[in-house]
Amino acid sequence: MEIKYNIKNINKNWGAVISPKDDKSLDFNYKAIFKHFRKYGVLNFRDFNLSESTLLEFSGFFTKRFANPDNRRQKRMESKFLLEADYWSDLNNRNSMGLHSESSFSSVWPEIVWFFCNTPAKKGGETTLCDGVQLWKILPARIKLYFLKQPIKYSIEIQLPKIKNIKRKGNQEWITNTLGVSGYVDLEEQKAYLEVLRYAMYKVENLDSYAFTNHLIADNHNEPQIKNISMASGEAIPNEYIKIIKEKSFEIIYEHNWKKNDLLMIDNKRFMHGRKGFAKNSHRDLLTIQTERSAFKV
Ligand SMILES: [Fe+2]
Repeated sequence: MEIKYNIKNINKNWGAVISPKDDKSLDFNYKAIFKHFRKYGVLNFRDFNLSESTLLEFSGFFTKRFANPDNRRQKRMESKFLLEADYWSDLNNRNSMGLHSESSFSSVWPEIVWFFCNTPAKKGGETTLCDGVQLWKILPARIKLYFLKQPIKYSIEIQLPKIKNIKRKGNQEWITNTLGVSGYVDLEEQKAYLEVLRYAMYKVENLDSYAFTNHLIADNHNEPQIKNISMASGEAIPNEYIKIIKEKSFEIIYEHNWKKNDLLMIDNKRFMHGRKGFAKNSHRDLLTIQTERSAFKV
């Protein structure tokens, strides 16, 4: 039996909150939910019987392939796909974080990011969201032209999991399935060095519109894998442009206030997300999953 649910808009342009009518179970028509997801871009499942232990199964209904693990994050439920969102050092991990599309600088760019709230921060810690479609629409023409002309070049360095007793030395070519990605692995250092060429915009097919989704306005100290960002030609991106893009994003930014057991399902190629800071003594516990490829084509 499929459950009945309420669906309510978050904004005029995007987003919906899905909450139970009476049955709090997760017996959805998953294809219908995915259609909502394509339409709204962000779904907030609220007040359902969701928990840390049912999260992988639930997101799995929408997932053909989970994204590769990020080995800097803490695992949960002994799964390499269910990770703590507030990661990898205690030093900076309560700061605010600038808007970004998850791993948009990387060869694997997830289609969906999921965030689940075990424990909200007492104060702060809101997740920020920015619709890349709206942002693209309000950018000045000269900035649009600049980013239409050529892709961005992300230079990245990835620490690979340590392998013992490596016999080979030197560099090995890194062949990926992604256009615009080239690089090599330094076998001795166990590091991958990649150059990723990717346009600042992504074409959202069902809207026939571009979304401005990338890593240009994120705080780079929060992403140590990125060593440099320029345009494909090598030219530096003008600071003035970055400043304007930030200002424009602030005009349309949305703050999600977490409630225990909230689940956010975010179209990562249309939306950028970030985070407001929270207090040090806060016991916030947010979990994340990344869907590399979704299970449905709608
Ligand atoms: Fe993120």
